[in-house]
Amino acid sequence: MDLHLQRGFFRWSIMMIIFMFVGVVIKPNDALSSNHRILFDSVLATPPPLPPPPPVGMCESFVIIHGYQCQEFHVKTEDGYVLNIQRIPGRSSGGGQVNNQPVLLQHGVLVDGMTWLLNSPQQSLAFILADTGFDVWIANTRGTRFSRQHVSLNATQSAFWNWSWDELVDYDLPATFDLVFNQTGQKLHYVGHSMGTLIALASFSEGKLVDKVRSAALLSPVAYLSHMTTAIGVLAAKAFVGEIITLIGVAEFNPKGKEVADLLNALCKTPGINCYDLMSSFTGKNCCLNASTVDLFLKNEPQSTSTKNMVHFAQTVRDGIVSKFNYGNESGNLEHYGENKPPIYNLSNIPSNVPLFISYGGKDALADVVDVQLLLDKLKFHERDALTTVFIQDYAHADFVMGVNAKEMVYNALIAFFKRH
Ligand SMILES: *[C@@H]1O[C@H](CO)[C@@H](O)[C@H](O)[C@H]1NC(C)=O
Ligand SMILES: *[C@@H]1O[C@H](CO)[C@@H](O)[C@H](O)[C@H]1NC(C)=O
Ligand SMILES: *[C@@H]1O[C@H](CO)[C@@H](O)[C@H](O)[C@H]1NC(C)=O
Ligand SMILES: *[C@@H]1O[C@H](CO)[C@@H](O)[C@H](O)[C@H]1NC(C)=O
Ligand SMILES: *[C@@H]1O[C@H](CO)[C@@H](O)[C@H](O)[C@H]1NC(C)=O
Ligand SMILES: *[C@@H]1O[C@H](CO)[C@@H](O)[C@H](O)[C@H]1NC(C)=O
Repeated sequence: MDLHLQRGFFRWSIMMIIFMFVGVVIKPNDALSSNHRILFDSVLATPPPLPPPPPVGMCESFVIIHGYQCQEFHVKTEDGYVLNIQRIPGRSSGGGQVNNQPVLLQHGVLVDGMTWLLNSPQQSLAFILADTGFDVWIANTRGTRFSRQHVSLNATQSAFWNWSWDELVDYDLPATFDLVFNQTGQKLHYVGHSMGTLIALASFSEGKLVDKVRSAALLSPVAYLSHMTTAIGVLAAKAFVGEIITLIGVAEFNPKGKEVADLLNALCKTPGINCYDLMSSFTGKNCCLNASTVDLFLKNEPQSTSTKNMVHFAQTVRDGIVSKFNYGNESGNLEHYGENKPPIYNLSNIPSNVPLFISYGGKDALADVVDVQLLLDKLKFHERDALTTVFIQDYAHADFVMGVNAKEMVYNALIAFFKRH
C-alpha cells in the first residue's frame, strides 16, 4: 500500500478512536447535530492553546452549586503524578457521615470525572449515590485538566506523557484506592466506565486492589475490543497502530489540539469522504442523552490522554487480547519485560469471589456485545452470587454515564447490588 493511502487510513483510525471513546454520537438530521457541529467545528478550527485550568475546582463549579458538600483532595502516585480527587460525603446516615460506605467513580479515556456530574442531581450517578447514603469519591486520571501536575515533570515535556493504561493499573488506581481507604478506613465499592472498567479488571487479574474492594460495577466494559461494530475503523486501527507514535511522538494526545485537528482536517478534505457519515458509522447511537447535557459535556470535554495510551488501545483492538503495552518488536519487549511478547492480563485469574456488576448495551459500538460475551466467558467460573449482569438493548456508550433514564435502567440495580455486598 502506498504511503499516501497509509496516511489516510491512519487519520481515519485516529478519528474513529476519538469519537468512539468520547462516545458522543454524531447523528445527522437530529436535534443534537448542532451540538456536534460545534464539537466538530471546534476540533477543525485552529485551536487556541490549551486554556489554563479554571481557577475553581470541580467541587465548586459542579457540586456545591447543587447544595452538596464537597472536598478536593490531591494524591501523589508512586511515579510522581499528582491526581485531583473530589469527595461528596453524602447524606448523613444516622449519627453522621462516618459510616457511609465509600464508592469510587472512575471515568473513561478522553474525559474526566466531571462526566459523572453533568445531568441533574436526580439523574447523575454521583449525586444519586450521595443521596442514597454513600460517600462518593471521583477520580481524575493523569493528564486530564485537574490532574496535570507532577513532582518533577511539566506537562509540556514528552516524558510527562510516557505512559499507557498499564501505568494507570500500576500507579493511578492504587494511589486512588489508598487515599480513599486511608481516609475512610473502609473497603470501597468501585464504579468504572469504559477505560475505568479495563483498568479495574486488569488490576484484579493481577490480584491487586482485591483486598480493598468491596464490590465493583463495570459499565460499558471494555476489555476485549476486537468485535467493535465499526469494522472499517477497526481495520485501520489494526493496520496502522504503530504510526501514531512516529507521527506525533511520545506526547500529549489532545483531541482539541493542533496535531489532531490537522489530521481531521486532512481527512475531511479527502474527496468522497463525508465526515458526518463517517462519524455516525464509527459510533454507537446513544438513545437517551439530554441536548443541554451534551452542550455542557462539549464545553468541558474531551480531555487529553497520552498518544501511548491511544496506541495501547489500538493494540488491544488489533490483537484481540488484553496485554501490556507492546513495544512493537522483540528487542523492545525484551528490554521492558524480559520476554518477546508483552505479558497478558489473564482475566480468568480475577478472584472468583470479587463481587462484579456488569452492565452493557446493545447499541454500544465500543463495548460490543460479542466482546462483552468474551469477557463473561473469562468469568464463567466466577461465583454465581458474585456476578450480576444487566443488559440494556437500547443503550450505547455514553448512555451509561449521561442517560436521562440511567437511574431506572442501571443505577437502581447497581445500588441494590452494592447494598447486598
Ligand atoms: C512548564 O513549561 C512551560 C514551557 O517551558 C513553562 O512556560 C511553564 O511555566 C512550566 N510550568 C511549570 C509549572 O513549571
Ligand atoms: C519512556 O520510558 C521508557 C522506559 O519505560 C524509556 O526507555 C524512554 O526513553 C522514555 N521516553 C521518553 C520520551 O521519556
Ligand atoms: C495510606 O496509608 C499507608 C499506610 O499508612 C501509607 O503507606 C500510604 O502512603 C497512604 N496512602 C495515601 C494515599 O494516603
Ligand atoms: C435536560 O436538561 C435541562 C437542563 O438541565 C433540564 O431543564 C431538562 O429537564 C432535562 N431534560 C430531561 C428529559 O431530563
Ligand atoms: C524496535 O522498536 C524500537 C522502538 O520501540 C526502535 O527504536 C527499534 O529500532 C526497533 N528495533 C528493531 C530491530 O526494529
Ligand atoms: C489464564 O488463567 C487460567 C486460570 O488460572 C488458566 O487456566 C489459563 O491457562 C490462563 N491462560 C493463559 C493464556 O495463561
